[in-house]
Amino acid sequence: MHIIMLGAPGAGKGTQADILSQEMGLPHIASGDLFRQALEEGTAIGLLARDYMDKGELVPDEVAIGMILERVNKPDCAAGCLFDGFPRTLQQAQALDQALSKQGKTVDKAIYIEVPGEELMKRLSGRRLCRSCQRPYHLLSSPPRVPGKCDRCGGELFQRSDDREETVRERLSVFFAQTVPILDYYKSQHKLIRIDGNLGVQGVARGIASALKAAIK
Ligand code: AP5
Repeated sequence: MHIIMLGAPGAGKGTQADILSQEMGLPHIASGDLFRQALEEGTAIGLLARDYMDKGELVPDEVAIGMILERVNKPDCAAGCLFDGFPRTLQQAQALDQALSKQGKTVDKAIYIEVPGEELMKRLSGRRLCRSCQRPYHLLSSPPRVPGKCDRCGGELFQRSDDREETVRERLSVFFAQTVPILDYYKSQHKLIRIDGNLGVQGVARGIASALKAAIK
């Protein structure tokens, strides 16, 4: 089972992929987390990605594709995985299809979480992430039990540098220009599922669970 989470920055892709990953027992592969981890480790990919991420622009396709395909080929992905933040361009979507089809696999569903723009700004400005396990929190809607500490692993919470307002605006405009076109790509393959993301976290999770149940029989 290969499922793609699509949505604007702050739509809740990471939050919902985290929930689905636990429910379905599939690894959660988040391209942004992989870039941030590479940056913490000081690798060449991390240092290259930083310049693009800081500006809210996409890292070049060949870099993102190479990194994700390497991750997908690890043994824990043998039964499938959840993609969060990848693909983001038509070229990435096509590269993923080609790589999976060589192994006799395919993308099963692409879940598009739809959230209005003003709500996205609120979500991103209050977001905090765990430095160890990457679990997302929100200062108002889903705060940690102990301020500054992850409920799951006790890791330190931090605010992403690209969650500043002007960078968020650029990320949103990149999303509409470069990622929205891939909705039609999955729609034409009858794989697109649209979900109302303007509900609470559990309401969105229930919407995704029932849509997946109806779509995969
Ligand atoms: P990435 O890390 O992928 O960021 P993004 O796509 O902009 O998405 P976010 O992580 O900001 O949001 P999300 O939808 O996961 O929301 P979350 O669940 O955290 O990418 C960062 C950068 O890396 C890119 O700009 C680019 O430079 C580079 N990059 C990454 N992938 C790339 C690729 N494939 N190609 C090229 N470049 C790439 O939720 C947000 C907040 O809202 C949280 O606080 C959460 O608690 C809260 N929340 C979630 N759901 C709800 C809800 N239902 N109600 C209320 N609050 C909610």
